[in-house]
Amino acid sequence: MAELAGVSVRTLHHYDEIGLVQPSARTGAGYRAYSAGDVERLREVLGYRRLGFGLRAIADLVDDPATDAVAHLRRLRGMLLEQRDRATAMVTAIDKELEARTMGIRTTPEEQLKVFGAQLYESIGSAYPATRHTEPRIAAKVWDALGDARTVLNIGAGTGSYEPPDRDVTAVEPSAVMRALRPASAAPCVAASAESLPFEDQSFDAAMAVSTVHHWPDPVTGLREMRRVARRVVVFTYDASTPGWLQRFWLTRDYLPEFADLLAGWPSLADMTRAIGGRAEPVLIPWDCADGFFEAHWRRPEAYLDERVRRAVSVWTRVGPQAEQRAVDSLRDDLSSGRWTERNRDLAALDAAELGLRLLVA
Ligand SMILES: C[S@@+](CC[C@H](N)C(=O)[O-])C[C@H]1O[C@@H](n2cnc3c(N)ncnc32)[C@H](O)[C@@H]1O
Repeated sequence: MAELAGVSVRTLHHYDEIGLVQPSARTGAGYRAYSAGDVERLREVLGYRRLGFGLRAIADLVDDPATDAVAHLRRLRGMLLEQRDRATAMVTAIDKELEARTMGIRTTPEEQLKVFGAQLYESIGSAYPATRHTEPRIAAKVWDALGDARTVLNIGAGTGSYEPPDRDVTAVEPSAVMRALRPASAAPCVAASAESLPFEDQSFDAAMAVSTVHHWPDPVTGLREMRRVARRVVVFTYDASTPGWLQRFWLTRDYLPEFADLLAGWPSLADMTRAIGGRAEPVLIPWDCADGFFEAHWRRPEAYLDERVRRAVSVWTRVGPQAEQRAVDSLRDDLSSGRWTERNRDLAALDAAELGLRLLVA
């Protein structure tokens, strides 16, 4: 077992002694005998250990009766993706400093520490709350669609931006980092994923999901789960199935066509509405949208030059540092040459834009 798991026999003995992974049986000669269930538990323990959790915290996680093996795997997967994104951001920061040095530019001590020290974690960990706030006009639409629902399940809740203040809300959020960022006043939060909701059928009046479905490994299963646990379903998401959708927004049309790769295999709007048995309506994005999601700054292009704005939107990390840098450099050039203004002259007269955001209601 030790050899298979890549740990020492001593480690396994220690896990047994502290009750973390206790083999279900002993052989006649007194050797520890691990069952399939024990192996599953050991895998979860080692997974959380690799993510840096302490043994006491791991014991709480693996002993949680509300979390089954699939939920643990999904959670571990989510955390590993976060760790990968953080590593990618760190590589980008290092590349920038290397580039600066080859050009003979000295970075400031603050910039240097940002690459390796606590400040990096600080800047990435706090990236989301820095620019992602409740947009009241979108919140009003979501809350209106919830109708008279009293109990509401908020899936992929993040920091709780769109949780209605006047209802009994339960949040679901698989990411430990996001859960830790929830304010103390936010609704109670369950560690689970959309695709496997740990609730009985029809246990909530309504289930809502805002700007999260595109993160789910299996959106249709997650949407069906929402339908299963609630009588009403409200989803704020994105339509990537209308022909020419990439051309709808100047940012993806002219600077970041790689956005299309991120949504390859993404279900059509029809598949999503079918999964909840509902309808879709367009949500126009106001020019001064307070929630800094990907499309939010469509009339404020300079915002995309701001690292803080980009770090709070997963698209920028997911396309990779090269595509990001190229898009930002090209946008910066077009803004200073006046080319962006020339190409997007018609936007100045718009107060709200149709960029493919949809409210699905069932
Ligand atoms: C862009 S944030 C949106 C958060 C919040 N709903 C809001 O509008 O501010 C996306 C959230 O979806 C969560 N998420 C990722 N995969 C998920 C899954 N399979 N099930 C539920 N939530 C998931 C992420 O951890 C993240 O907190």
